[in-house]
Amino acid sequence: MLDIRYSRWLYAIFLMPILLLPFHSVAGSKWRELSNDNIHDPDGSAIDVLQQPAEALSKLPQDTSGNMVNWVKALEEGAINPRTNLWPETKVKIRNNDLFLENTGEMPVVRFPHRAHTLWLDCKNCHEKYFISKEGANPITMMKILQGNYCGRCHGAVAFPLTECDRCHSVPRNKLEQIKAKSRK
Ligand code: HEC
Ligand code: HEC
Ligand code: HEC
Repeated sequence: MLDIRYSRWLYAIFLMPILLLPFHSVAGSKWRELSNDNIHDPDGSAIDVLQQPAEALSKLPQDTSGNMVNWVKALEEGAINPRTNLWPETKVKIRNNDLFLENTGEMPVVRFPHRAHTLWLDCKNCHEKYFISKEGANPITMMKILQGNYCGRCHGAVAFPLTECDRCHSVPRNKLEQIKAKSRK
């Protein structure tokens, strides 16, 4: 019998409209012209002064979804160099470990990289309000994520979209122990 909770096809159907939207909106160019993005006023006097997204973003490491930039790569490669803090008293804290979230049914295990997140974010952006800082203490499910909780607070909003299953579900179960051991080094 089909176990609804663990059906990837259920999520695929659920996500189909979201999945097709980007194809619709980026048809032609990867990035919409400002005059055609449904945000800027095409008749406004500033429209010719503003930089087009394609001009700025096409120079960065490319991605296949969201706003088509691989931001983690852009940062690691030094293609961008954002200010780390606005106030000098702010301490920047990087945490390097990976965590493996294994309640993924038939899907590959989720690897959560602390490093890729703390390069952008403060611990307080996630702890303790959205994630208890204790391994296994958070009852995360895919449905809750799709409803905008846990990872879904950012992914699908300001970080790569939830249609990119494999970027989170990146660890095949038969390689789990091997990859865990490697990440501890
Ligand atoms: C993007 C969100 C996010 C940010 C930012 C973040 N964490 Fe976490 N953290 C998590 C998640 C998700 C878990 C896994 C919880 C689970 O297993 O249920 C976790 C687990 C932990 C744990 C327990 C497991 C471990 O690694 O030992 C500690 C301690 C922790 N975080 C500390 C920190 C600190 C310190 C910072 C800042 C330097 C930080 N975290 C930044 C999301 C985040
Ligand atoms: C932003 C990261 C992220 C993305 C993208 C993502 N998932 Fe998940 N998924 C998770 C996390 C975290 C869990 C919970 C793991 C845990 O608690 O051990 C999960 C759990 C699941 C589960 C287990 C059953 C359940 O209902 O929780 C399934 C099945 C699943 N995801 C399917 C998918 C499919 C299919 C996609 C793509 C359409 C997808 N996921 C995209 C992070 C993600
Ligand atoms: C507070 C916001 C926030 C939350 C919550 C969050 N992320 Fe992210 N995540 C980001 C940002 C920002 C990036 C970098 C931009 C991008 O890749 O789109 C990122 C990048 C990633 C990457 C890519 C790393 C790389 O090397 O390319 C993975 C994988 C990931 N997140 C998984 C998760 C999982 C799994 C969860 C939930 C357990 C989660 N994230 C929760 C904001 C968040």
